[in-house]
Amino acid sequence: MLTTIIYRSHILDNVPPQELEAMVAKANEINSRADVTGILLFNGKHFFQLLEGPEQKVRAIYEHICEDLRHYNVVELLRDYAPARRFGRTGMELFDLREHDREEVLQTVLDKGTTKYQLLYNDRALQFFRTFLEEREKENYFEIPPADSWSFVPDADTPSEPPLQPDEAAACHFAFQPIIDPLAQEIISCEALIRSPEGQSPEHYFAGLSGDEIYHADLQSKKVALAMAAKLGLREQSLSVNLLPMTLVKVPDAVDFLLQAIADNGFVPEQVVIEFTESEVISRLDEFTGAARQLKASGIGIAIDHFGAGFAGLLLLAQFQPDRIKINRELISDVHKSGPRQAIIQAIIQCCTTLEILISAVGVEKPEEWMWLEAAGISQFQGYLFAPPGFGAIPPVAWPEKREEL
Ligand SMILES: Cc1cc2nc3c(=O)[nH]c(=O)nc-3n(C[C@H](O)[C@H](O)[C@H](O)COP(=O)(O)O)c2cc1C
Repeated sequence: MLTTIIYRSHILDNVPPQELEAMVAKANEINSRADVTGILLFNGKHFFQLLEGPEQKVRAIYEHICEDLRHYNVVELLRDYAPARRFGRTGMELFDLREHDREEVLQTVLDKGTTKYQLLYNDRALQFFRTFLEEREKENYFEIPPADSWSFVPDADTPSEPPLQPDEAAACHFAFQPIIDPLAQEIISCEALIRSPEGQSPEHYFAGLSGDEIYHADLQSKKVALAMAAKLGLREQSLSVNLLPMTLVKVPDAVDFLLQAIADNGFVPEQVVIEFTESEVISRLDEFTGAARQLKASGIGIAIDHFGAGFAGLLLLAQFQPDRIKINRELISDVHKSGPRQAIIQAIIQCCTTLEILISAVGVEKPEEWMWLEAAGISQFQGYLFAPPGFGAIPPVAWPEKREEL
């Protein structure tokens, strides 16, 4: 299948111009043999390249290019399929924008296009060329330093208490994972994640239950979470717990039950945040918004978890605005390499900033993901990069430390 990939990257300092010429000559040969077209623009700092040809070949060449140490911050902007080539000639051609008039380059690029695509002026690939040539993409593109410019060392000052053992009377246990502001070195909240007493997943815990039993067990488990949080000394901290949205609807007086459990364990409602999963909220939105109002009226905060994973996305915020949203792991994963993920997250940030909704990024595993998200304006994070969930315990946080420049 005919595939087009467009990416953008940053040249490494000190790559001599002759090396670039040699690279283009070699690439020209490789591309020609593979029946791939490579149009490369260079503005002295950034590369912008279109690769077009048979899918497997384009993919293989692109993967190879991503590994090339002569450039970094490679961000894929477009991956598309088309019935015919946009550009007829295969091989590799470099346009150094410092030596050419930009309008001329655009015209030359357009002239290389097949007649059909020249006419289709709103073609996405050609629009990307125009945006790069007019330098309009700059505000959306963050330069992040190499992954090893920060180290992540678990905090040695965290007291290592033995973990809490499961209570024999309780059917569940909890793991605790902090939500942090890494640059301020501050713990924003601690999330209690339900587990079976043996440490198995929430699905395992709920698997043995049927019908409305699930909602009652869900609510009862919050008593265990709050009691464990109190024992772990989290009374001065914000505490996040998950709840199935239908628990609020199906169990009469669920809010009163929660308020009682909060008070019994020495917490106040304002320090508790209840997290609901986006997809579950959406399936019964009207009933949920009624119940959510009761929670808000009692002082308890509301967060939407896995935001962006379901089909509702930003539309959800038209009907219901939580205090916080947690961006789903699927969107966070390799965000530093993906133009579409970056665009979606930027839209979420803009929308939530306008609505004064706090944002946290969940499931952050790589330093580059964190660095890109910080550059985009997110300051609160949760993930293995900083701290894994601690079973019956608060794990030490690995705060990022800037490495000394060598
Ligand atoms: C900005 C940039 C664009 C490149 N474009 C291509 C290309 O279109 N085709 C290609 O075969 N190699 C391209 N390369 C070079 C490859 O990364 C790689 O060096 C080349 O395929 C030769 O492989 P080798 O170094 O393993 O021998 C590019 C490198 C850079 C930095």
